[in-house]
Amino acid sequence: MPRARAFHGTIVHCPTIGDTKILENSLLVVSTDGRISHLEHDIPRSDVEETLSRLQLPGQEQPRMVKYLDRADFLIPGFVDTHNHAPQWGQRGLGGGLHILNWLDEITFPNEAKFRDAEHARKIYSSCVDGFIRQGVTTCSYYASLHGEATTILADVCHAKGQRALIGKCNMDRNAPDYYRDKDATESLQVTRQVIDHVRALDPSSDALIKPILTPRFAISCDDELLAGLGSLAKEHPDLPIQTHFNEAQQEIDATLGLFPDFKNEADLYDHFGLLTDRSILAHCTIMTDYEMDKLQQKHSGVAHCPIANTTVGGGFMAAPIGRFLEKGIKVGLGTDSGGGFSSSILDAMRQAVIVSNARQAINGEPALSIWQCFSLATLGGARVCSLDDKIGNFQVGKDFDALVIRSDVDGVMTMVQEDDTLAMVFEKFLISGDDRNIDEVYVKGRQLKGMNS
Ligand code: GUN
Ligand code: FE
Repeated sequence: MPRARAFHGTIVHCPTIGDTKILENSLLVVSTDGRISHLEHDIPRSDVEETLSRLQLPGQEQPRMVKYLDRADFLIPGFVDTHNHAPQWGQRGLGGGLHILNWLDEITFPNEAKFRDAEHARKIYSSCVDGFIRQGVTTCSYYASLHGEATTILADVCHAKGQRALIGKCNMDRNAPDYYRDKDATESLQVTRQVIDHVRALDPSSDALIKPILTPRFAISCDDELLAGLGSLAKEHPDLPIQTHFNEAQQEIDATLGLFPDFKNEADLYDHFGLLTDRSILAHCTIMTDYEMDKLQQKHSGVAHCPIANTTVGGGFMAAPIGRFLEKGIKVGLGTDSGGGFSSSILDAMRQAVIVSNARQAINGEPALSIWQCFSLATLGGARVCSLDDKIGNFQVGKDFDALVIRSDVDGVMTMVQEDDTLAMVFEKFLISGDDRNIDEVYVKGRQLKGMNS
């Protein structure tokens, strides 16, 4: 059981998308169940002890120590990575410039095939999960490889290390090499069921940190029977989220519509198979008609925006019209798409989201994103996309305490903090130039995962 904790200092979070609040002199209390029990504002440091006693917390809920943050330090919600391929940890950034189907054939399938070996999976997944925790990724939506055993290992690793995660066995029974393909739809669905059972058994409570997710790789790699079977599973388990790649690049869209001539677009295709729902996480969405945007909005499906991968591999070489998605009220989160994306840092994804939005504005006048908007996408936006915003995404009382302690004065890392900087300026400096060295402590549901010795 985590111990009760209290933090005093500046909190930065987003009560709603696009609205970032910087709250000085806040006192946040975490109870032994890992939830935020109290959040008080405008409490000077000298009044903290008195405030805590006024709260009349029962013995075990009385924090033994208060963590006092320095003036230019911040408590922020943990980052949510809405799109991540754990087996690609060892190939991040390779194959830049290749179009998606060539990149899969030449770089990705040979690498992912190695996860037939459980020992290899254990080694890579352990390093991968550590790496993302170090970057402040408290929640991650993972694609594993197609292997059942390796996928359960990924779930075990996340469970042991304490990261909140969605874990999916990749479904792919066609258009992949013999050495890396599910035998057929029946086997693919059977292994999927086994993985779901394993993940649920790790923690059967409704509060579990590790959850299964249906993961048709994309329609190109799934035949009709497999897509229909996954749609039935989604119906059978109304709490199961779904993730897939969606409208990533022209080469991929052409190949998809060639395989499914009855459909004019991917939104109708996935909808037909019961895979376009309010629990769907659609990676990329770079090339979108108004019709498809409206359909995503009506279905309340979420977008995993992966601006680094979109501009380095895959052949899109452009990014999604996020400004337009936000105008339409479509849910948007950020993804590293590690390893199509070269970086495991959500801060890098935020910056690239700003850059590509500026390019889209220059080219066709779409609204550009600020780094502040991207911060809300990296936290609350990601929580909404993963259907976890009842539990995480900001510091609303009652939510789980998934949080990062940000330290600004790490020598030579972020843009130098100056005496007369406002707190907003210091925080913006972190967003635009900080890295994992500024992420001093990481917590998931009250359990500390990084910075235990600080
Ligand atoms: N489409 C199908 N598989 C993949 C993948 O692994 N990465 C990316 N970026 N796109 C895909
Ligand atoms: Fe991907």
